[in-house]
Amino acid sequence: MSAVFSILGRGRAGRALAEAWGARVALLPHSARPEGPVLLAVPDRAVTELATAFPGRCAHLSGSLHLADVPCAHPLTSFDGKAAEWTGTPLAVTGDLPEVFRRAFEALGFLPFVLPEDLKPLYHAAAVLASGHAATLWLGADALLRAHGVRLPGRGLAPLAEATLRNVERHGAAGRTGPFARGDQATIMRDAAALPESWREVFQKLGTLLD
Ligand SMILES: NC(=O)c1ccc[n+]([C@@H]2O[C@H](COP(=O)([O-])OP(=O)(O)OC[C@H]3O[C@@H](n4cnc5c(N)ncnc54)[C@H](OP(=O)(O)O)[C@@H]3O)[C@@H](O)[C@H]2O)c1
Repeated sequence: MSAVFSILGRGRAGRALAEAWGARVALLPHSARPEGPVLLAVPDRAVTELATAFPGRCAHLSGSLHLADVPCAHPLTSFDGKAAEWTGTPLAVTGDLPEVFRRAFEALGFLPFVLPEDLKPLYHAAAVLASGHAATLWLGADALLRAHGVRLPGRGLAPLAEATLRNVERHGAAGRTGPFARGDQATIMRDAAALPESWREVFQKLGTLLD
């Protein structure tokens, strides 16, 4: 059976989506030049040039980049190269996304929505805050503890991170806990004083950013 479409780029996004879509989709290196519709799963910096090889029959996955004649489907998730449960995950669509791609994403549970193209950088910056920067905070918190000889048992910070996300998903801003949400000034001052200067600034800034 020939592939319905091809994915170019065997990185995190390409591999995860190809594994989920199965044999109906061909996963190829970025140097391939297949017939038919092509989904570009390559670094943002490579999209513009590669798209010129497939005029009118390719789409890309970049949440930030907008190209006038190349539609985009941006899955609002963090891929690890493996298929996952994506039901309910937003899919930001810009341009005239071919039905073959839209249907394929919907079959995996993604929820397409139209994102105005001029809002792509803002949308993507928000995604970076919620994903990569959140990861930096968790990794930084763990590194601070380790630097002082504290080794958390079991799953470490993961249960706290998961419970925090669950609370915020259910209750919005009211789901926040901690001394800033409670207004415990003495605790805030004591905790801040214990941090290295660079983290102290982040701690204070984030604590009051939504006030
Ligand atoms: N990672 C995520 O969680 C995520 C989430 C949403 C959207 N996206 C988007 O998905 C796209 C791919 O991201 P990714 O995380 O999968 O990237 P990645 O893991 O870095 O993989 C990209 C793949 O592109 C190919 N490639 C590498 N350098 C290249 C170059 N200079 N020119 C052309 N192709 C090159 C390689 O595949 P071959 O060796 O097979 O050629 C590489 O494995 C990006 O537009 C990104 O914004 C990613």
